[in-house]
Amino acid sequence: MTKWSPNSWRDKPIQQVPAYPDLAALAETEKQLASYPPLVFAGEARKLKKQLAAVSAGEAFMLQGGDCAESFAEHGADNIRDFFRVFLQMAVVLTFGGAQPVVKVGRIAGQFAKPRSSDTETKDGVALPSYRGDIINGIEFNEEARTPNPARQRMAYRQSAATLNLLRAFAQGGYASLENVHKWMLGFVSDSPQSERYKALANRITETVDFMNAVGITSESHAALRETDFYTSHEALLLGYEEAMTRVDSTSGDWYATSGHMIWIGDRTRQPDHAHVEYCRGIKNPLGLKCGPSMTPDGLIKLIDLLNPENEAGRLTLIARFGSEAVGDHLPKLIRAVEKEGRKVVWSCDPMHGNTITAAGYKTRPFDRILKEVQTFFDVHAAEGTHAGGIHIEMTGKNVTECTGGARAVRDEDLQDRYHTHCDPRLNADQALELAFLVSELLAKKKHGQAPRQAVNA
Ligand code: TRP
Ligand code: MN
Repeated sequence: MTKWSPNSWRDKPIQQVPAYPDLAALAETEKQLASYPPLVFAGEARKLKKQLAAVSAGEAFMLQGGDCAESFAEHGADNIRDFFRVFLQMAVVLTFGGAQPVVKVGRIAGQFAKPRSSDTETKDGVALPSYRGDIINGIEFNEEARTPNPARQRMAYRQSAATLNLLRAFAQGGYASLENVHKWMLGFVSDSPQSERYKALANRITETVDFMNAVGITSESHAALRETDFYTSHEALLLGYEEAMTRVDSTSGDWYATSGHMIWIGDRTRQPDHAHVEYCRGIKNPLGLKCGPSMTPDGLIKLIDLLNPENEAGRLTLIARFGSEAVGDHLPKLIRAVEKEGRKVVWSCDPMHGNTITAAGYKTRPFDRILKEVQTFFDVHAAEGTHAGGIHIEMTGKNVTECTGGARAVRDEDLQDRYHTHCDPRLNADQALELAFLVSELLAKKKHGQAPRQAVNA
């Protein structure tokens, strides 16, 4: 294999590259970015890898979620807080139901670049470059907005820094304390069917925390009650930006992506001899790999060889995104190949991307298909004797109408009311919480359906 360096991807074929008109300006921007402070530290990425190793061993569960695409227009404290509180609610529901740690990873603070199926979009006979995410161009349909502009990379960097700063404050500064479980409830969720369930659970947690306080385990004395580890992730699509944010960790001498704790490779850019795999193989962060219907068992093993040659637990998360109908056909073959080769991976379920349809002129996802894909994912793992390790979802804390269905049903004709996404349809807060309850039941069933662990040499 050829020698890796942060720019060795430049010698490989590449998909999904924006056509920047001014390459000198692009190079100048990348040079500036390379001099900016890292957004995350290598030690944090290592800590996440360790937590994911526990997931791969069946001892924890991973929750990964956030916007399909972050946008400059929606950058604000309320948005970040509302996302985070729903995320915390989901995490606490899953932790309680599964009686297992939940590894918390946001699709946030860097999730800006989008792969597109076509390079151009045509409207009324006018063809313009497709929107590729705010880090590249603007969503408005005019020539100026759609022309890739390198200055947007600096804006994305600064937005990521500000977002991460607030998330760190929330996660470590008291907001995420288990003493606040009731406060994470969002106003508009409080009259939804999920709210009763959530309040009942929050009451039980409060009771437990009160008891612990009484016996001397308090949030002052125990950081585990008061704080949580929250990590960031995004698709490593715009490799010039990623390269600029790639730094040597001084303690280990290894290269790390410092644009986020975890990065993933999309289903469209995972060709083994192409640029995205080349870049990702050389950095030490935890990696995700999206696996869609075109992934074969041999193709998967080849990619695992490249991305995790040392079979390090926690390094690689396979994110299955097949669609509710196809998952039952595709997933078992991949799991068997991985098991046969003895590869350590985290299996996560993305029930969003294989279930996109068009209704009433909108790109949407029926909630029942999302639930069904998750359910089948768990069933398949139960049948194979492997660990259903996590979910990967597109969600928001806002009360949007982008996915249809859910207990407080969004109908096709409701989509137009609050359809705000810059890319794919997201679960709203109600739907996200409903999904968390379903998964918590699956986790609880698994836990209690299992024979108790046998003591060895007892
Ligand atoms: N520190 C533990 C954890 O992160 C418990 C915890 C604190 C927690 N705040 C939380 C769990 C918020 C879920 C949500 O798991
Ligand atoms: Mn998406």
